[in-house]
Amino acid sequence: MSTQVLQRPALREGAFGNATHLSCRECGATHVLGPFYACPECFGPLEIAYDFPQVTRAQIEAGPANIWRYRSLLPVPTDIVDSPNMEPGFTRLLRAGNLGRDLGIDRLWVKDDSGNPTHSFKDRVVAIALSAARELGSKVFACPSTGNLANAVAAAGARAGIPTVVFIPHDLEVPKIVASAIYTNRLVAVRGNYDDVNRLASEIAGEEDGWAFVNVNVRPYYAEGSKTLGYEVAEQLGWRLPDNVVIPVASGSQLTKVDKAFQELIRLGLVEEKPYRIFGAQATGCSPVSAAFKDGHDVVRPVRPATIAKSLAIGNPADGPYVLDVARRTGGAVEDVDDELVREGIELLARTEGVFAETAGGVTVAVLRKLVETGQLDPDGDTVVFNTGDGLKTLDAVADRVGPAATIDPSYDAFVAAHVI
Ligand SMILES: Cc1ncc(COP(=O)(O)O)c(C=O)c1O
Ligand SMILES: [Zn+2]
Repeated sequence: MSTQVLQRPALREGAFGNATHLSCRECGATHVLGPFYACPECFGPLEIAYDFPQVTRAQIEAGPANIWRYRSLLPVPTDIVDSPNMEPGFTRLLRAGNLGRDLGIDRLWVKDDSGNPTHSFKDRVVAIALSAARELGSKVFACPSTGNLANAVAAAGARAGIPTVVFIPHDLEVPKIVASAIYTNRLVAVRGNYDDVNRLASEIAGEEDGWAFVNVNVRPYYAEGSKTLGYEVAEQLGWRLPDNVVIPVASGSQLTKVDKAFQELIRLGLVEEKPYRIFGAQATGCSPVSAAFKDGHDVVRPVRPATIAKSLAIGNPADGPYVLDVARRTGGAVEDVDDELVREGIELLARTEGVFAETAGGVTVAVLRKLVETGQLDPDGDTVVFNTGDGLKTLDAVADRVGPAATIDPSYDAFVAAHVI
């Protein structure tokens, strides 16, 4: 293991909480904390390493009803609660009896992250990236996005009073465009797909000084925000790990961080150690990780996305190989479903549990059904399925499936004649 000192701005004491350094996921080399994401020795991705103090359940439970209840496990300063931020997290974990009956699963929960401030799980990751940007003295807060991240970055920047520049593919869903542009006058639509936008962002990050690109040069910090989904699921189940979790995969970051969270909880003695299986969910029109899983490959071959699940449309997923590792190590799987099944998944969740998911939630619900039907997921275990975004952002996906049962004149006779009930 080597320690190479990379240049970084001066930091205040405790800027990154209990985080101690950056560590290369490939070669294990260590680096100082800073705006770095690639190992200078092997170009592998860097991630945050910690020296955790003893943390108790009671300490966590006494914290605020948002992600900052876990602040000692995140790369943020202890005074994070005092700086303006979106206060995301601690979203509901719904016992989903109706959906469970439909799918033949006895004990099923929906982790409903549509309840976050900008209606997706991205508020979690952005809150950590914002803290890093602040501590590093960044002058611009920026991102390439498939849509939800754009909403979260634009809103968080507005609230924190830091200028934002947000890059999106030009053909995103209208609600996602408007729900970004309302917070920032620097929304940039790029003629290309997400992978083109991401390449452009990396280029700009290399050219411009003092920009914090949340999922590029401060990605190690950003990614840690997804751990809070794992912490919350365990805490909300009564400090226990589920047997199965079904998680959407775009870049794959979220899935790998839920696994990291479960491992940390075990190591800290906050939950009992037990086996758990992590399942990844993709739309068939952008399923490079699922394809690699099924083919038994370790590398993920990039694809050109073509699916209604635009939030998951990353054809060259940065964390794809690590998703494969987690799914294989835990005995899970990565599966995919076509767009028609995604639409059915959205409708099924809405009709059974009153939760309106965006396309990513349609993907996880439909994949869950497929996993049960194909015997890949044991329906006798405690199972959690993630809904990571709000259906109001992707209305078009189901707009032609549902609508009024009848359009009638305002009279009782007309109502009766329509046979609605
Ligand atoms: C709603 C939603 N769910 C899940 C994901 C997947 O995130 P990741 O890139 O961490 O795999 C995204 C990514 O954009 C998203 O917008
Ligand atoms: Zn390395």
